[in-house]
Amino acid sequence: MNNIIHLDSSIMGDNSVSRQLTAQVVKHINQGQKATTYIDLAQQELPTLDGFTVGSFFTQKEHRTSEQQAIATTSDQLISQLKAADVIVLGAPMYNFTIPTQLKTYFDLVTRAGITFQYTETGPKGLLDNKTAYVVVSSGGDYRNQANDFVTPYIKLMLGFIGISEVHVITAAGTAGDKDAALASAQKTISAL
Ligand SMILES: Cc1cc2nc3c(=O)[nH]c(=O)nc-3n(C[C@H](O)[C@H](O)[C@H](O)COP(=O)(O)O)c2cc1C
Repeated sequence: MNNIIHLDSSIMGDNSVSRQLTAQVVKHINQGQKATTYIDLAQQELPTLDGFTVGSFFTQKEHRTSEQQAIATTSDQLISQLKAADVIVLGAPMYNFTIPTQLKTYFDLVTRAGITFQYTETGPKGLLDNKTAYVVVSSGGDYRNQANDFVTPYIKLMLGFIGISEVHVITAAGTAGDKDAALASAQKTISAL
């Protein structure tokens, strides 16, 4: 049995381009044999990475307060769900040139030293392996391969940092202009997966 984890982060609800496309990716790659875990990051009230959160991570379990343990447990659960998946389908719209706050918070909670990456003599090493990611990037403008795209390169960096290096990007660029053309181009990429 293969497992898919399907993560959406658009704040645009039913009008979201990336939500529409991540659903299509899941449908396309899931030939009926895969179990899907769905997380709508826009609906989660996840702890942000402040001093208290990072202090919870750095405090040994037996010394954590109940509030610190609750935060560590939330992070542990997100990591368990990610570890259990063979395939990650991620929706990543561009807001203010970068990823949604909610997606940044997710990365902050699943990027933990000693759990999803570790420092070695040759540098940091990701601890997740044998996973494939499909990332839908939607943006009003078209910033593909430009220096001011802080979405696609950043997501590849973050996924690679925790060991997910096989990343397929599906781009819906220019949704503020010809939205149908942006969707059609992304759908063509999905069909070819
Ligand atoms: C608050 C906000 C900020 C945005 N910032 C950008 C931006 O910096 N660059 C851009 O190309 N599009 C920007 N857009 C447009 C979105 O990237 C575009 O609507 C995209 O399709 C969003 O994906 P979604 O529909 O899945 O949320 C922004 C949209 C919103 C609502």
